[in-house]
Amino acid sequence: MIFDPETLIRINSARSGYEKALWYESARMDYRGNSVISEVNTAKHDKRKAKLAPAFAGKNVALLETKVDEWLAALVRAIRAKIAAGESTMDIGVMIQYFQVDLISELLIGKPWGDLEDEKDHFGYLKMSEFQVPAIQAFGFLPAARIIYTSPWFMKLFGPKPTDTGGLGLFMRVLQDEVEKRFKEKIGKPEGSWDILDEWIKNGVPPNECQFDLSLLVPAGSETSVMMIRGTLLLLMSSPVAYWKLKQEIRDGIAAGRISNPITSEETRGLEYTQAVVREGLRLMTPIGFGFSKLVPSSGDTICGKFIPGGTSVYPNYHSLMRCEEVFGSDAESFRPERFLGNSQDVAYMSKVVDLTFGGGRFVCLGKTVANLEMNKIFVELLRNFDFQVATPEKPWKRWAYGTFVIQDFRTRVTEDTTME
Ligand code: HEM
Repeated sequence: MIFDPETLIRINSARSGYEKALWYESARMDYRGNSVISEVNTAKHDKRKAKLAPAFAGKNVALLETKVDEWLAALVRAIRAKIAAGESTMDIGVMIQYFQVDLISELLIGKPWGDLEDEKDHFGYLKMSEFQVPAIQAFGFLPAARIIYTSPWFMKLFGPKPTDTGGLGLFMRVLQDEVEKRFKEKIGKPEGSWDILDEWIKNGVPPNECQFDLSLLVPAGSETSVMMIRGTLLLLMSSPVAYWKLKQEIRDGIAAGRISNPITSEETRGLEYTQAVVREGLRLMTPIGFGFSKLVPSSGDTICGKFIPGGTSVYPNYHSLMRCEEVFGSDAESFRPERFLGNSQDVAYMSKVVDLTFGGGRFVCLGKTVANLEMNKIFVELLRNFDFQVATPEKPWKRWAYGTFVIQDFRTRVTEDTTME
């Protein structure tokens, strides 16, 4: 495991010769084939990713932004409805999970699962992933267990299947049905609407790959952003000085007409403190602690002065990287957004290191644009409407780390802030 930023930047660079290690196979979800992330063959991975990526780029970014805005408004409505119903103390962590699952399902196939509106974990997906994610992460690190766990016969017997009546299997079927409908009938999507599946079909992604990659995007897009958002909210609630500075920046921005309703992506760039909170939140609550190992090229490599033989799996340790005192200073363990203020070289370098949490180069996260849109907007949209307070300060939540994280009982007291508009 390494947390040396320069080595990680070098591994991600185009000509490093590093490839995905076999750990990635543990991310396989469907016994019938690989998703883009579990595909370890570099040429196949690159070719496949090239067809998926345009859905997240160019003119599509504006469409992604519209959907993010719609779901942020839905989240605000849902929180407001709970307050009106006398439930001002709520599990904000679960509300954010519902929001994210609805956003991602709407982005993928144009149909949200309706978790937020029904206040229900449809398909039992979230409950199931609390069990499934730790299991996948644990097996992923044990080569023998991984080989068994990811073999098609094992997955067919014990893994999620589209014939299941709940959990991951059922959502795989929902996605599979949609793909089949679109390919067979060449309809299914209302005229004038937009979604990622539609973009992929236009880019020549075959039906089975559409299915496997849609199934991947639900956990890839929900386990991650949700962690950052929940974590940053907790950090803000526990740091009154930062909380009120952020509120003040939002208040001033609204009063000066620099923040529309909802805030635009363009406007978020002008909010220096908000940007600093997002970076600092992503740093301390990095959604992925470790994983995504790369294989040392056959000639071997020298890492931090030590020769590492070819074929060794090298794991980025994001958790330690984000708390590295050489990069972030002696208070690296503290939540201090101020470290990201200004335009110094240090700030630019720290930002570059935080960005490593998305991977880089050919390995970069496909959903980075969506995640950035969300992270830059959500705190403005929440704090312009509400105030948040930890409901159980002695134990604000329960959190378990498995490479990614499981969080429960994030009880928060939420009150309306009607002073901003
Ligand atoms: C703060 C939020 C997020 C973080 C920190 C994050 C981080 C990562 C990381 C570290 C990887 C693997 C990089 C590697 O292989 O070295 C990855 C891959 C991926 N992410 Fe994200 N992610 C986030 C949000 C999202 C979202 C919102 C989506 C979907 C909308 C998404 C979709 C994907 C996909 C599809 C891949 C596989 C890319 C490939 O195989 O090349 N991620 N992400």
